[in-house]
Amino acid sequence: MAHKKMSPARKQRMAWLGLLAILALSIALPLVSYSVHWLGNDAIAQDVGTVVNPRSNYWRAVESGEGGYTSNGGSEAGVLIAPGGVKWQQRRDGPVAKYLPWAILGMLVVVLLYHLIHGKNKLDAKQLSGRKIKRWSWFDRAVHWVTALSFIALAITGLSMLIGKSLLIPLLGKAGFSWWAITSITVHNVVGPVFSVGVVLMIVLWIWHNFPTKVDIEWFKQGGGMFSKAHPSAGRMNGGEKVWFWVVAVVGLGVSVTGLIMLVPIYNLPVPSWLSWVPLIEGTRPQMQDANLLHAIMSLGWTALAVGHIYIGTAGTEGAFEGMKTGYVSEEWAKQHHDLWASSAADKGQVVVLENDKDASSANHNVSQTPA
Ligand code: HEM
Repeated sequence: MAHKKMSPARKQRMAWLGLLAILALSIALPLVSYSVHWLGNDAIAQDVGTVVNPRSNYWRAVESGEGGYTSNGGSEAGVLIAPGGVKWQQRRDGPVAKYLPWAILGMLVVVLLYHLIHGKNKLDAKQLSGRKIKRWSWFDRAVHWVTALSFIALAITGLSMLIGKSLLIPLLGKAGFSWWAITSITVHNVVGPVFSVGVVLMIVLWIWHNFPTKVDIEWFKQGGGMFSKAHPSAGRMNGGEKVWFWVVAVVGLGVSVTGLIMLVPIYNLPVPSWLSWVPLIEGTRPQMQDANLLHAIMSLGWTALAVGHIYIGTAGTEGAFEGMKTGYVSEEWAKQHHDLWASSAADKGQVVVLENDKDASSANHNVSQTPA
């Protein structure tokens, strides 16, 4: 039978149809897997889904913080990825490091403005009589200055660890900052415990002067005389000083405990069982993360308040620094700032004239006092 030849026009039509079919299939075939879902055929879809990388479950467990085996010692040594660490870092580098240091700068601005507008809180007396009242013993002063100086060292090194990277690398360069960062953390770890002992001693020595009384309410009502010429009544400590004392006591203990928790694994400190009631005490990684955030928040807020205390104790109040330096205050200062305490000291015959008053600090050691 004779074979009928295909015409060139038909051949061309067939070629076009073939090409179109290939194009249509290349678009339609990848959509088949979607159509499985559109048709609601979950069984088939699940079947497709079970083809998974057999290692993915393993990595899922690692990412969720599950522990595995390691020959390393130490708590949580078998945990490869601790997911809490990511959250901790976001909080530390976020709100804590970004916003809280501004509170310190804000306080510096407030203090500067107050000083420029109001000026120093001067003594009303034009001349001093030379009569003095003992206010702080040598031990009080030693505790105050050791604690104050260690506080300043801790504030500088602590801020260097928190925000030093962005502030100091432009100044010191990377190598210089690396050296400073290592020095900061070493100083911080050594001075921290000294400071904590100082805080405890301050509490034991001075708590007796700092219980609130009705006189303090009146003192606060008059704004402590900070915005007027008035000198509201006060006993040995005024309302503002009592608030500062309780900040030192409560925040000081908080900062000390959270600091010590972070030192537990660093110094490999044994935690005795009778201390197990202290929150976060075992110093595990999640506990250290919580302790670190609390420590940073409390100490930054406290440093801002300390700016106010340091101003009042130096440039802000005439005669206050002398008391913490020599142990003695002038009778005029005592009457102006602590009238009730001054009159009770006078009643007890504690107003004295120091021999060689030019240097009252050396006179303290060998006091030859003449009652006024
Ligand atoms: C280096 C800067 C500092 C200066 C110049 C300074 C100055 C003073 C002065 C003059 C007083 C005596 C006030 C009075 O006699 O009424 C005082 C008391 C006190 N200071 Fe400081 N101080 C400084 C830092 C600190 C720091 C950092 C702390 C806490 C960590 C602190 C805690 C105290 C406490 C608790 C009192 C006694 C308050 C009371 O009992 O109510 N001081 N300071």
